[in-house]
Amino acid sequence: MKIQLAPSILTADFGNLAVQIRRLEEGGADSLHLDIMDGRFVPNLTFGPPVVASLRKITRLPFDIHLMVQEPERFLEAFAGAGGNSLTVHAESSPHLHRVVKAIKGLGLKAGVALNPATPLHALEFVLEEVDLVLLMTVNPGWGGQEFIPQMLRKIKKLRKRILRARLPVEIQVDGGINRATLAGVVAAGADHLVIGSALFNEEDPGKALQEYRSQAEGAFRESWWGNFQDSEV
Ligand code: DX5
Ligand code: ZN
Repeated sequence: MKIQLAPSILTADFGNLAVQIRRLEEGGADSLHLDIMDGRFVPNLTFGPPVVASLRKITRLPFDIHLMVQEPERFLEAFAGAGGNSLTVHAESSPHLHRVVKAIKGLGLKAGVALNPATPLHALEFVLEEVDLVLLMTVNPGWGGQEFIPQMLRKIKKLRKRILRARLPVEIQVDGGINRATLAGVVAAGADHLVIGSALFNEEDPGKALQEYRSQAEGAFRESWWGNFQDSEV
């Protein structure tokens, strides 16, 4: 069991991405979280497959692609071809979630489903067995640098219990407002995959900050209820 740290480059300096990504590699990032926004599903725009393909040439880190786009089924092949390793789609973004998840798996990639803060966990009920990862948004998607929504701790814990009970190998990723103050709490609640954006890029050395976050996260995991869980506890 390992805590995964996925830096989000959303608030990085895009003119200096190569340098910034190298720092994250040196700091031990497990993957790069790439935020794709279409101006419809969320009120903001970022970048598309050509930028992902350019980044693919400068790093070997796996690309964890978070699709904040309406009807993501239109873009799965393009992001797979650009070098994506896992594709996460929002449950709220397509009427055919099960089909989209199957299509991602069919492309040979890891499949994730994301839930906005107000979306209940039962949206996952009939797809949970099919996914590799559930992304619980801990802010409303659209921008980096927003404040963590504390009610999400309860949601994380509930999902962790469900996953343990069903013995599923599903990761719980959290995204939004993860920083020194909130990181231990999300791990204690049950998250094993942390997206960190502005809290890294606000630091002078994002690589060093990442190492500190890792030791904080591992400490919180060792002390957590689910890190040492017994069947009787779930
Ligand atoms: C928000 C994005 C996040 C964002 C997180 O819509 O999905 O990945 O980059 O940034 P921070 O860590 O600054 O909240
Ligand atoms: Zn994201």
